[in-house]
Amino acid sequence: MSDLRARLRALPTFPADLPALDPGAAPDDPVVLFLRWLADAAAGGAPAPHAMVLATADADGHVSARNVLLTDLDDDGWHFSTHRSSPKAAALAANPRAALTFFWPAHGRQVRVAGVVRDLGAEDSVFLTRSEASRVGTLVGHQSEQLPGLDEYATAYARTEERVHAEPGLVDPDWADHALRPETVEFFQAARPGNIRLRYRAGHDPRRPAWLTELLWP
Ligand SMILES: Cc1cc2nc3c(=O)[nH]c(=O)nc-3n(C[C@H](O)[C@H](O)[C@H](O)COP(=O)(O)O)c2cc1C
Repeated sequence: MSDLRARLRALPTFPADLPALDPGAAPDDPVVLFLRWLADAAAGGAPAPHAMVLATADADGHVSARNVLLTDLDDDGWHFSTHRSSPKAAALAANPRAALTFFWPAHGRQVRVAGVVRDLGAEDSVFLTRSEASRVGTLVGHQSEQLPGLDEYATAYARTEERVHAEPGLVDPDWADHALRPETVEFFQAARPGNIRLRYRAGHDPRRPAWLTELLWP
């Protein structure tokens, strides 16, 4: 076995002591379980427990994944903010189907959410609640375009910072709220001997419960 392969195999994945997931006692609504797990991760000191990998595919089927931050969770779904000029926004405009993944290793937990993303628009008041550094970073713009060198970025940042100091109400009209409305939400709990996977599927029949649950082979 190669040295790298051996070192990777020796790396720890999850701690020995893991919480249990009892599928029979799971709430009817996956949002309830998700918020419980998010709170556990935050209470356990996980850095950026609200970071989620957003996977998108553009019209040509090219797939891309990156972290974004969860900014809200309501009837519209899992919210995040991003710039309309970004590659992810372009991919979502062409193909709104997307997936989110949360990973909280200290608890041996993963949550996967899949569904359809909608651009819910830009709200100046929400933009202005962000930290100055975040607002400046967004207003510098050009996200994901090629950057000739770090000096160019430093100059653009300093210029934008000056503008924000002169005009504290400056907003970026293309920094938009997006929400993924879920069709499935899957909870993975590492366990010995077998990992537990519980999937919620949105029901489309009004006479049935809003969510159907099923176990998956690990
Ligand atoms: C923990 C973390 C959180 C992030 N949160 C956001 C976010 O909320 N919105 C955003 O546009 N980019 C965020 N980013 C940057 C994205 O991962 C990505 O680099 C950027 O949005 C460009 O992505 P794109 O080229 O696929 O559009 C975050 C990065 C990290 C590491």
